[in-house]
Amino acid sequence: MKKIFIALFILYLGTAVSAEEDFLAVIEPPEAGSVSQSEGLAAFQRIYEVTSHPRCANCHVGSDNIPMWSGPSYGKIRPHGMNINAGNSRIGAETLLCSTCHRESSNLDSEPHAPPHFGLAWRLAPVEFEWFGKSPAETCAQLSNPDRNGGRDWMGLARHLVEDAGHRGPVLWGWSPGGNREPAPYSLQEHVDDVLIWGTAGMPCPIPNEHAADVE
Ligand code: HEC
Ligand code: HEC
Repeated sequence: MKKIFIALFILYLGTAVSAEEDFLAVIEPPEAGSVSQSEGLAAFQRIYEVTSHPRCANCHVGSDNIPMWSGPSYGKIRPHGMNINAGNSRIGAETLLCSTCHRESSNLDSEPHAPPHFGLAWRLAPVEFEWFGKSPAETCAQLSNPDRNGGRDWMGLARHLVEDAGHRGPVLWGWSPGGNREPAPYSLQEHVDDVLIWGTAGMPCPIPNEHAADVE
């Protein structure tokens, strides 16, 4: 009797683990028309907390091609040490490949201050997906424009998140970054849900702040 119980328990643990692997996040958009503009804007604010977080923004940098070191485990905000520059290739092909140190591995864990890694080749995000230092209005304009987000609508963005996580890529790593790194806020599922809420509301964007408008 005891043996059967233990065997069943082990079986249960096995299925629980594989279920987690298969369903890192599900895509369940709210019903069309069921989300108000203000709920959409609130969802976008949470999306922005994720995209501007160091675990995402350090790689989503601009045309100087310099990855950033920022977040509590780095102490202060600074460019990647050792003069690393990803070049226009965004993988360091012109100087030193990112993969020299950031080895591809499906194991997301790493020692504090050792080069982090994930299940895809380590590289910067394409330059048009620049998030580092960008305001909510700027990031919203980029994310909602197919010419600047890889040709995706909001469903495409949600699918990208789930697909990337399925490859154990940067999106999954952002919430399990290993070492002493601070994970991105909320969870992968909550972030996917927020993209779907924002999309269902018609992708509303915050108004650029008035101070910036005054300066213009
Ligand atoms: C190690 C670098 C790296 C990190 C860290 C990273 N990304 Fe990316 N990101 C990329 C690359 C490379 C692409 C392009 C991949 C593609 O299009 O298939 C990308 C593309 C994207 C896209 C596609 C569309 C767009 O407009 O940007 C989204 C959405 C995205 N990342 C979300 C995230 C989120 C959320 C996080 C943090 C949880 C994150 N990324 C962290 C490298 C990174
Ligand atoms: C000589 C080794 C080396 C090379 C080459 C290298 N890195 Fe790094 N990288 C590191 C180390 C070590 C860390 C972690 C430092 C820490 O946690 O204190 C790191 C951290 C990072 C981070 C911050 C991740 C986070 O915690 O948010 C990014 C982004 C990054 N690297 C991008 C790149 C890109 C892009 C390339 C290629 C252009 C590259 N790195 C090449 C060693 C390297």
